[in-house]
Amino acid sequence: MGTVYLVGAGPGAPDLLTLRAARLLERADVVFHDALVHPDVLALASRARKVAVGKRCSQISTDQRFINRALVEAAHRYDTVVRLKGGDPMLFGRAHEEIEFLKKHFIEVEIVPGVTAALAASAELGISLTRRGEARSVAFVTPRVGEGTRGSSWIRAALAADTVAIYMGAGEGAAIAAALIEAGKPASTPVAIVESASMPDTEVTCGTLRTLPGMGRSSGGPALILLGEVYGEAVAAAPRDLRKASQSA
Ligand SMILES: C[S@@+](CC[C@H](N)C(=O)[O-])C[C@H]1O[C@@H](n2cnc3c(N)ncnc32)[C@H](O)[C@@H]1O
Repeated sequence: MGTVYLVGAGPGAPDLLTLRAARLLERADVVFHDALVHPDVLALASRARKVAVGKRCSQISTDQRFINRALVEAAHRYDTVVRLKGGDPMLFGRAHEEIEFLKKHFIEVEIVPGVTAALAASAELGISLTRRGEARSVAFVTPRVGEGTRGSSWIRAALAADTVAIYMGAGEGAAIAAALIEAGKPASTPVAIVESASMPDTEVTCGTLRTLPGMGRSSGGPALILLGEVYGEAVAAAPRDLRKASQSA
């Protein structure tokens, strides 16, 4: 029986892959990979069969039950099965469903961490998620609720933390802003949207919670909403029209 490795592919740039991940890919027999994994990363798995099981919003995605079953079947046939996931596998990646299913079938699972989008976005901005004396807590949240799952407490977490990274929320800026402002987050809270962090076409848009509904995205790449006082300096450095919008907020 083989081992299934849940491997973080990082935020996009192939050179942000860990050395452990690269070595595993080189000896992988089969790789089940998310959408948006860079071709250079997949190329490392030169001897592996590659199966795309990507999930991108608004596109047809592979059913999670199919992925679970495919991983089990592959582990019966191959020594090294890699499940390659965007960012870090343990954050908003449905890793626990795969781990649980594999363990239920007595298949060994190992996890290889990756650089999550919030860290790559912070690197793009050059702004730390934490700041001595100002931001001592960070929440990774998503307003996205899976089919048949309980409603999430993301708003409570977002209110409690000094800095908030919102995954899978970029298409819902208006609803997110309305929900947070209604719950008591100041409308003047600085916001940065980072699109395609770590990639050459990365884009940053800055504003406040009040201006978030009008903050567009350009490339259609994956995007993260960051909010908190630490982004005040990014808002201050933003183009004049955005600055005006956020000052009037
Ligand atoms: C299903 S979640 C997976 C998160 C992933 N496991 C991680 O650790 O980054 C996908 C979301 O991550 C964010 N994301 C992933 N890659 C990104 C990137 N390069 N730049 C900005 N946001 C990104 C977006 O919010 C996207 O909708």
